Amino acid sequence: MNTGNAQYYMDREDRFGAHNYHPLPVVLERGEGVFVWDVEGNKYYDFLAAYSAVNQGHCHPKIVAALVEQSRKLALTSRAYYNNVLGEWEEYATRLFGYDKMLPMNSGAEADETALKLTRKWAYKVKGIAPNQAKIVVCNGNFHGRTITIISMSSDPDAYNDYGPYTPGFINIPYNDIPALEKALSDPTVAGFLVEPIQAEAGVYLPEDGYLKKAAELCKKHQVLFLADEVQTGLARTGKMLACDHEGVRPDILILGKAMSGGMYPVSCVLADDPIMLTIKPGEHGSTYGGNPVAAKVAITALEVIQEEKLADNASRMGELFRREMKAVKSDLIEVVRGKGLLNAIAIKPRNGKTAWDVCLAMKKNGILAKPTHEHIIRFTPPLIITEAQMRDAIARISQTFAEL
Ligand SMILES: Cc1ncc(COP(=O)(O)O)c(C=O)c1O
Repeated sequence: MNTGNAQYYMDREDRFGAHNYHPLPVVLERGEGVFVWDVEGNKYYDFLAAYSAVNQGHCHPKIVAALVEQSRKLALTSRAYYNNVLGEWEEYATRLFGYDKMLPMNSGAEADETALKLTRKWAYKVKGIAPNQAKIVVCNGNFHGRTITIISMSSDPDAYNDYGPYTPGFINIPYNDIPALEKALSDPTVAGFLVEPIQAEAGVYLPEDGYLKKAAELCKKHQVLFLADEVQTGLARTGKMLACDHEGVRPDILILGKAMSGGMYPVSCVLADDPIMLTIKPGEHGSTYGGNPVAAKVAITALEVIQEEKLADNASRMGELFRREMKAVKSDLIEVVRGKGLLNAIAIKPRNGKTAWDVCLAMKKNGILAKPTHEHIIRFTPPLIITEAQMRDAIARISQTFAEL
């Protein structure tokens, strides 16, 4: 076995693994803070940070310690029993975000599914919609995960093709379109509106200022739940704890995942108040691993790190620096630079056969790892702990790459 040879690992994954991803050709074996190292010893800035799961930096020592300590004591009970740390996490998260109750899950998709189920329960138990008639309004360009129900809401053929029949009960409207929302909400069988405060997977599309606030107001007026999927935008990524905080919006159902564990473990959750959360009764929803003691300790610690290290403020400052400097780069390949906090993207104008993928391969040579989302957009989402010196060094490497191309 040639353990220093990246090709060996890539061939092995290709041969024995399903081909449901198209990874950048780099084989990582170590991570620390904003950096990762490949099997050949090359060091890179990680400008993807596991799709914003690693906001606290790779292998954050405090989160690692929580994981190790709790996994030595008690790792999994299932919810057949109580454990002595789930309540601690529930209390911590509900106080921090200001909700009555939390429901723990593992992946972002499961948390979104939970939010959809809660919305339907609430529609029948509280709003009084006739059985099986409840609808949920969603936006074109959305990304909420990969389950059959979630891809039933998708407008991306790669996500939904050949997976039918699809789950009914969704109304798709354009993103950032208040008149379209208002029209959809006039249907009295609508129970919820599910939205990403910024459409990250779609290519970091920011709605107009005031969109979320206006959307939340309309939902309230029509007795419709406002569901914010903050799986990717949440937990300091955009320069505030929640992206909704930029507009002072408090979602009726808040969906969190990814950085909830700092990349240590799959942890997600949904937060809501009693009139919504208590519509689900024992036995009506759950997950074997959801709310396990390791997840609970890791999540509390990951949330502590975000606050102790003031990651929202840093994301705000470093994001402004990134956009300012990247907007100043002169390159025919750059169409637009956009983002909020450290959730940023550069749209690439293909030139001389060079695409976003080629830019990412060239950046890799210069010590920066980032990945295209869709054909022509590169997302730049480093860990939020990045220092100004590191950011300036990374910007120099990215600028140099564009100059070389
Ligand atoms: C906004 C949003 N929701 C949900 C998900 C799904 O999360 P997971 O991959 O953990 O299921 C993602 C993943 O990228 C996401 O960006």
